[in-house]
Parts: sequence; C-alpha cells; structure tokens
Amino acid sequence: MCSARSVGGQIFRTKPTEEIVAEGGHGEGGELKRTMGLTQLTMFSVGATLGTGIFVILGSAVPIAGPAVTVAFVFAAITALFSALSYAELAGTIPVSGSSYSYAYATLGEIVAWVCGWCLMLEYAVSVAAVSVGWGQYLNEFFKQVFGFTMPASIASPPGAGGVFNIPAVVVVLFAAFLLLRGASESATVNVVMVYIKIAVLVFFCVVAATAFNPDNLSNFVPYGIAGINAAAAKVFFSYIGFDAASTAGEEATNPRRDLPLAILLSLLIVTVIYVAVALTATAAMHWTEFGDNSEASLAMVLERVTGASWPSALLSFGAIVSIASVVLSVMYGQTRILFAMSRDGLIPRAFQKISGERQVPVANTLIVAAFIALLAAFVPLERLTDLTSMGTLFAFGLVGVGVIVLRQKRPDLPRSFHTPLYPLTPILGVLGCGYLIFYLGTAAQVTFVAWTVIGLVVYFLYGYRRSRLALESTPR
Ligand code: ALA
Repeated sequence: MCSARSVGGQIFRTKPTEEIVAEGGHGEGGELKRTMGLTQLTMFSVGATLGTGIFVILGSAVPIAGPAVTVAFVFAAITALFSALSYAELAGTIPVSGSSYSYAYATLGEIVAWVCGWCLMLEYAVSVAAVSVGWGQYLNEFFKQVFGFTMPASIASPPGAGGVFNIPAVVVVLFAAFLLLRGASESATVNVVMVYIKIAVLVFFCVVAATAFNPDNLSNFVPYGIAGINAAAAKVFFSYIGFDAASTAGEEATNPRRDLPLAILLSLLIVTVIYVAVALTATAAMHWTEFGDNSEASLAMVLERVTGASWPSALLSFGAIVSIASVVLSVMYGQTRILFAMSRDGLIPRAFQKISGERQVPVANTLIVAAFIALLAAFVPLERLTDLTSMGTLFAFGLVGVGVIVLRQKRPDLPRSFHTPLYPLTPILGVLGCGYLIFYLGTAAQVTFVAWTVIGLVVYFLYGYRRSRLALESTPR
C-alpha cells in the first residue's frame, strides 16, 4: 500500500518536456506522417471553430444583449485571445498531439493532465456529437426547401427530441471517419474546401445584410446593460471553441514549431472578423426584438427580409450543412489525436495508440471514437449540452494559462518559437477571463461539470493511476 505522501507524489508526477517532444509521432506499430502545412493547420482550426455557434447561437444571444451582441462577440474573442496566446506559446514549445493535456502533463502533473484530457472530451467528443445532431436538422431543412420533402422525425431525431434514431447524425460521423481513415492530409484537403465554402456563405450573408443597414435598428444599442453583454458573451463563447484544434496536429505538421502558433492565432483572427461582421450586419438589418424563439432560422430570416425571396434559406442551410460537417471532421480528428497521446502515456488502453494500414493512421482509435460519437448522437438529445461543452473547454483553456506560467518558471531554458506578449499579464488575464465566463455559465452547467470531473477522477484511480507509463517506469522490478 502506498502512503498518503507517495500517492500525492505519484498523482502530481510530471513528464519531462524533452521526452514528450521526442516521442512525438510514434505510436504502436508505426509513425504518423508529417504532411500538414500552415494553410491546412489554420483551416483545421477554422474548420473546428466556425459552425453552429454563428448559425444558431447568435440568434439566441441577440435577445440577451440586443444589438450589443456584437460587443459580446468581441468580449468572448478577447477571452479566447488570451488563451490562444498561451496555446500558441505551449504549442510552439511542446509541439505534440495531446494539446492542453500534454502541456498539463509537462507542467502541472498527471492527475491535472488527466482531468484536462477528460475535459477535452467535453470540448471534442461530446460537442461533436451535439453538433452532428444539429447537422441532421439543417439537412432536413435543406431537403424541404429544395426538394419539398423532409425525413420523418422518427429517423432524423434522437429519442427525447421526437425521434427514435438520428440517422443523419450517424451519417455525418461516418463520413468524417471515412475521410480520417484515408489519412490526415486527405482529410485536411477536403476540410480546406469545406472551410472556403462556409466562409463564402457567411460573406455572402454580410454583403446582402449590409444592403439593408439601418442605423435605427442599433439605436438602443445596450438594452440590458453590461450584464446582458456578459451573459451573451458566455453563451457565444461556444462559437470560438475549436481554434485550439491545430494544437492536436503537432505530430502531423511539417514545421510544427513555426506553424502551430501561427495557425492558432490566424484562425482566431479569421473567425472573429467573420463573427463580428455577421453579428453587426444581422442586427443592423433586422431589429433585435425580432430575433427570438426561432433562433435557428434567424440568419435566414434576415436574408428573407432583405431579398424578399425564400432561396436564401436554402443557401444558408447549405452553408450550415457544410460548416457543421467540417466541424465534425476537424473536431473528430482532434479527439483521436488527444486520445492517441493519452494512450501513449498509458492513461487509457493501448488500442488508441496503434497505427496501422498503409496510410499510417490510428485506425482502431478512429473507429472507436466514431462509434462512440455516432451512438451518442443517434440516441441522446444533446443540444442542451453546449454550456457544458463551454465549461469543459474554459477549464482546459484556464489550465493552459497556468501551464505557460509554470513552464516559464520551471524551464526558462526551453526553446520557445513563440513568446506570449506581456507575460505574465496575458496568461493571468486568460485564466481570469475563463473563470469569469465559467461564473456566467450558470449553476446547472457548473454542477454537471463537477459531476463529470468526479467520474473522471474515479476512472483515473481505477485505471491510469496504476497503468500510466510513469507509474510503471517508477515501479521497482
Ligand atoms: N465552435 C464550434 C461551433 O460553433 C463548436 O460549432
């Protein structure tokens, strides 16, 4: 039996940074291929970020903040920026696949890394299941507008949301799995095309909405004061989740030290410009009190008003279909790579780090992740989980800020391709910003998050605590 002191020592053991970096790319039975350049990495992050947040959540945030929803997007972007700068520094210092999980392992200890990896499952696997449920709804909308028919709810919605089995959600997950099995580079190329399409649809929206720009709609700009803006910022933070996806591609990037920090910051810049433009033109074209119950269709409603035609809805549905498919693809990729890193450390079973096939991808890992997400999306009504996803993500983002500070103290000597400006102010503001938004997310999400973490800790003590590679290496033989 271990003494309490040694248990403390074990759960906070850290993994040497050099070791983490040196084993990058290696899995059981093969190596990941380094094929992704700056464009593909940036588009991976944009792909993972730009999705339901802007198509759906914008509509539900307008009634909370009024036209100042644009300011809420800026607030959320600033919080995301502080974290993105910390991510950029750590991704350039420890360019591996595990993202914040690996950074926490190098800085804060195994148990914190585990909790971080567990939270990343909320950011990645759970959110992608939620997002693919929404995909089915847009697909149905598109079918209705273009072909005049819809799939029956029984096969297009999960139980609890009027259906039995959500086939479209499963289809989009299988499509992403198929691409991922063909290789990271092939997936990245398809993703780049999808990202261009979704950006084009949103630019089109802004141009059309701008033709109906009416300053009167913005006159009562902050109807609910700063509290309204804060609550809306916590809500729309969901739309920024994903900019960190490039940090899961460290072992498949051609020049990770240079490109990962750039990809993370560039993707955040791109989505922020688009979000602010969409929010501003939407609220200037249609009075904020008219946004409301039917938030999913709010962007379509704006276009319908402006053009007097119904085809814009079809176009927006198409944009949403492509957007969400690209979120599913990039986020699923990220989840498989985080699990790959966790498996290599022995915290989850070895199947997740096996590389096989001529394309040298983690086949078993991809199939297990796809099956898990497909089942979740098919049978569970997940749309309400967006706040929980934001909670897990904010927690992981906060840890990255702490990680930057700890690593600068512990290892000032490490080569860093990117230095967070205004250190230590930026990471501290990042941590505070995350805490602030967590506070505004509300009690329901906070309580569920605590329950999720407790389950994670039980899993850790039942499995990873004894089987982690660090634990086995320190066991006397
Ligand atoms: N940021 C992603 C979205 O908005 C999760 O869909």
